[in-house]
Amino acid sequence: MAAGTVVIVGGTQGLGRRLAERFADDGHPVVISGRDSERTAAVAAQIGSAVRGVALDLAEPTQIAASLAGIENVEHVVLAAIERDSNTLREYDIAKAIRLVTLKLVGYTEVLHALHPALHDTCSVLLYGGLAKERPYPGSTTVTSVNGAVETMVRTFALELAPVRVNALHPGIVGDSPAWENNAAMIEAVTTRTPIGRTITMDEVTDAALFLLRNGAVNGVNLNVDGGWVFG
Ligand SMILES: NC(=O)c1ccc[n+]([C@@H]2O[C@H](COP(=O)([O-])OP(=O)(O)OC[C@H]3O[C@@H](n4cnc5c(N)ncnc54)[C@H](OP(=O)(O)O)[C@@H]3O)[C@@H](O)[C@H]2O)c1
Repeated sequence: MAAGTVVIVGGTQGLGRRLAERFADDGHPVVISGRDSERTAAVAAQIGSAVRGVALDLAEPTQIAASLAGIENVEHVVLAAIERDSNTLREYDIAKAIRLVTLKLVGYTEVLHALHPALHDTCSVLLYGGLAKERPYPGSTTVTSVNGAVETMVRTFALELAPVRVNALHPGIVGDSPAWENNAAMIEAVTTRTPIGRTITMDEVTDAALFLLRNGAVNGVNLNVDGGWVFG
């Protein structure tokens, strides 16, 4: 049987892009999304000829369904997008906070609402949360809250989409990801508190994502991938 389509929301860079590359290499048709249509199409073309780009903004959820219309034979849905909101109580930016809350809570949910008719029984879904749910830092209130919410969303999604499996991955700081390339202080701080003595890598997170997506017995799981940082 031909490989099903893998939809990766937030697939233009970082962890979503790395996973898109792995599925494209394995012969899957892949749909990646980003906010800008030209950038998304250009990244899709760089990854491979069976990769298509779709532009959508998860913080504008009423427009998501139209952007995803026509996608069929879905095997995996991956929700990897984020707009980082470094936002302290003392200098609180309400608009930025609302965008991130909408993006992960309403946007992730609306993607699954829009795509659920295209999901067959053996499909699986993966949400990206993050270890900020347990390891806060100054300014992380929104990030910590939405990633904590991802942990709970997995449970209702797994119930409502059954027998489709739904899991979440909660990475620690991914040292070689674009998100932290200009933040050596954060990498250093996390390294000193991580039992494996280093930050985790994009490839390690991607391997964990493939396990959650492909293992037919794993369902409703929130998996921390953090090198033990949570105990450090
Ligand atoms: N990297 C880490 O260290 C780390 C740690 C813990 C958790 N995580 C989680 O892992 C996931 C991936 O993180 P990352 O660091 O790899 O991400 P990233 O490099 O910052 O990439 C974010 C992706 O999300 C897309 N995006 C941004 N805003 C969007 C919006 N409003 N609507 C739709 N798409 C949007 C971006 O596309 P465009 O820019 O092209 O629009 C891009 O493809 C996130 O959920 C994050 O919370 C990452």
